[in-house]
Amino acid sequence: MSAAVGQPRLLVVASISVIVLLIASQLSSPLPSKVFNSFAQALRRLQGITSTFSPPRQRVVVMAGNLAMKTPLLHLRDGNKVPMLAFGTGTAWFKEPEDHGKFDEDLVLMTKSALEAGFRHLDCAEMYDNEAEVGKAIKDSGIPRQELFVTTKVANGIKDVPRAIEESLKKLQLDYVDLYLVHEPWKLHTPQDYRNVWRGKEEVKTSGKAKSIGVSNFVRKDVEMILNGSPKELPAVVQLEYHPYIQRENDDVPYIPWLQEQGLQVEAFKGLSPLARCPEGPLVGPLARMAKSHNVSDSAVMLRWFLQQNIVAITTTRKEERLREYAEALTFELTADEMDEIFTEGKKLFKRFYFPERYDADDRS
Ligand SMILES: NC(=O)c1ccc[n+]([C@@H]2O[C@H](COP(=O)([O-])OP(=O)(O)OC[C@H]3O[C@@H](n4cnc5c(N)ncnc54)[C@H](OP(=O)(O)O)[C@@H]3O)[C@@H](O)[C@H]2O)c1
Repeated sequence: MSAAVGQPRLLVVASISVIVLLIASQLSSPLPSKVFNSFAQALRRLQGITSTFSPPRQRVVVMAGNLAMKTPLLHLRDGNKVPMLAFGTGTAWFKEPEDHGKFDEDLVLMTKSALEAGFRHLDCAEMYDNEAEVGKAIKDSGIPRQELFVTTKVANGIKDVPRAIEESLKKLQLDYVDLYLVHEPWKLHTPQDYRNVWRGKEEVKTSGKAKSIGVSNFVRKDVEMILNGSPKELPAVVQLEYHPYIQRENDDVPYIPWLQEQGLQVEAFKGLSPLARCPEGPLVGPLARMAKSHNVSDSAVMLRWFLQQNIVAITTTRKEERLREYAEALTFELTADEMDEIFTEGKKLFKRFYFPERYDADDRS
């Protein structure tokens, strides 16, 4: 097709796009999917000349303000507040050893999309080897620093935590992180190991390079090691694998309510396991039914289950359209019966996905 023929068509497409986006921006909810999809299909037919226009991406942007404003905040014991829906850069974005050192442009784009979509909480880690990509996305986004909540975690640098945060901050191009976690307890053996790492965390908080400090993958005995080590600053957050198939109920007092009673807020990962990792599991049917009755995605139902327990839901994706599905978690409420059904059906299957080999098969802690 010649440029002379292409240009008038391009103008028509651009005008239609502007009109549709103007209409969409006047609606409090996104365009009904059927209308949107027909529009997208028509545009795609003309796409020989419109490769720079991407309808799904525009649609995500349309809902941006809503998500950023609607995301509830969880209050921490140290006075800070955490947006309860987070976009994570591990799992789907974790770099395999052969990719270490390679800059992942796709992650920069996806993180920017998550920010454009209204996500304000980014969950990273030194171990994922992609803090530099997150830093670039934050910088490119132009979003004021104080509107973001950035978490990172220390694993390899655990012997010298103040030095490890310097390296993370350099990669993230930030002066501070909002939350700095000990990634895992597996290198900690003696009470002194726990005390040393926690002193390092406290030093980082005092220096202002982390606003809040906490731990990840700690079971109750690990948390007690910190609490019994005369901490000057108590951990504010525990991030761990938690979902209906692992309700962390080994002890007389189940772990999650115990943490919350201690004033430790909980962040859940692997939360979408009933959908993403157990296609035959007992919750697939109930989640689909609830999704239909609330007119939202099944992922939104699953994520909502965490929010209604005052738990931060950390998720991720490699597909931009999922961001909208996830955001629907902020648009409705599960009934008490639905919450209970997810707990009850979930107890029919026990599954741990994060390093199961580190635990006994019947260990539900
Ligand atoms: N502290 C730790 O040790 C630790 C460990 C693990 C994770 N994390 C954090 O948690 C973040 C989230 O990771 P996660 O593994 O826990 O995420 P998750 O929310 O359990 O699963 C996310 C995956 O679910 C898939 N998915 C979403 N909706 C679905 C549906 N309706 N049906 C089928 N599949 C669906 C997505 O696939 P597509 O990509 O195809 O959309 C996505 O990759 C990580 O990025 C990381 O930041 C922390």
